[in-house]
Amino acid sequence: MIKAKKQLDLLSANNDLEIKSKFLIKNQVTLYNGDCLDFLKTMPDKSIQLIITSPPYNVGKQYEKKMKLEQYLAQQKRIIDECVRVLKDEGSICWEVGNYVDNGEIIPLDILLYEAFRQNNLQLRNRIIWHFRHGLHCSKRFSGRYEVILWFTKTDNYIFNLDAVRVPQKYPGKKYFKGSKIGEFSCNPNGKNPSDVWDIPNVKSNHIEKTVHPCQFPIALVQRLILALSNDSDIVFDPFLGVGSTAVAAIMSNRKAAGSELLKEYYDIACERVNLAHKGLLKVRPDTPVYEPIGNLSITKNPFLPNDEVIYENC
Ligand SMILES: C[S@@+](CC[C@H](N)C(=O)[O-])C[C@H]1O[C@@H](n2cnc3c(N)ncnc32)[C@H](O)[C@@H]1O
Repeated sequence: MIKAKKQLDLLSANNDLEIKSKFLIKNQVTLYNGDCLDFLKTMPDKSIQLIITSPPYNVGKQYEKKMKLEQYLAQQKRIIDECVRVLKDEGSICWEVGNYVDNGEIIPLDILLYEAFRQNNLQLRNRIIWHFRHGLHCSKRFSGRYEVILWFTKTDNYIFNLDAVRVPQKYPGKKYFKGSKIGEFSCNPNGKNPSDVWDIPNVKSNHIEKTVHPCQFPIALVQRLILALSNDSDIVFDPFLGVGSTAVAAIMSNRKAAGSELLKEYYDIACERVNLAHKGLLKVRPDTPVYEPIGNLSITKNPFLPNDEVIYENC
């Protein structure tokens, strides 16, 4: 029994993905433990198909030092300029952000960062609203339950695989009942366009993807972007990698992955998650519709008592 387990461990160790730290286009995975600007400087022009990231929001999380807003925006601009340089002409950038909060006043970062992309002549294709149902409970304003993904392309000739990300129709079997198309499906039987409002659970304490990182991407969110905006074997890059959710989704989708993360603790978890994903062993919540309570509250789950922890914040 012990011998069999040892053999299994040996087999899975041998099956590890080789994670390189120096960027080369041919690498399956390149993960760099350090500053994203240093890493970007090693990447050739027009080498990346898709960049997906969520930068620090300058709100004083454990992995960031809060700075003046102007300073933060200037730093983001330098990183965005470099990202545009390494992006292929058919490529896309998805910048996911929430609000900067100053003395209880919220400042939407996507509005402020939009200018940095426009100055690089990028075109905004969608401002995707990522809606989620759990988070801090505010007492001085409505509780925030969405963040924004700005999806930009470098040119008009960009990759968009809509069929790869269709979601179920509300009435999939509905057919025309009169006219020349009578009997034919009146909606696409392969599903509908997911629209620009995405309801995907955020990764809180009960989520199966949760690690020690305070704000990781749900894999389903990044995978939808990867399937739609890149093709097999393309490189997907995340400059603010965290615990590697973008790289994991890239590997699960047969893409190459690249990323940089400043903190060693998160970097190590990212490497481990990428390897588990490669072996098909990482637990991931599928991109399925969120539970909608219906009917009598006494016999269904009470929608006003989510599973998540309740945190009251004076915000
Ligand atoms: C919002 S989190 C991203 C989380 C990520 N989306 C995930 O799913 O794990 C931002 C991350 O950027 C890292 N970071 C901050 N400044 C950085 C820099 N200059 N270069 C590389 N990483 C940085 C932080 O340590 C943090 O883990």
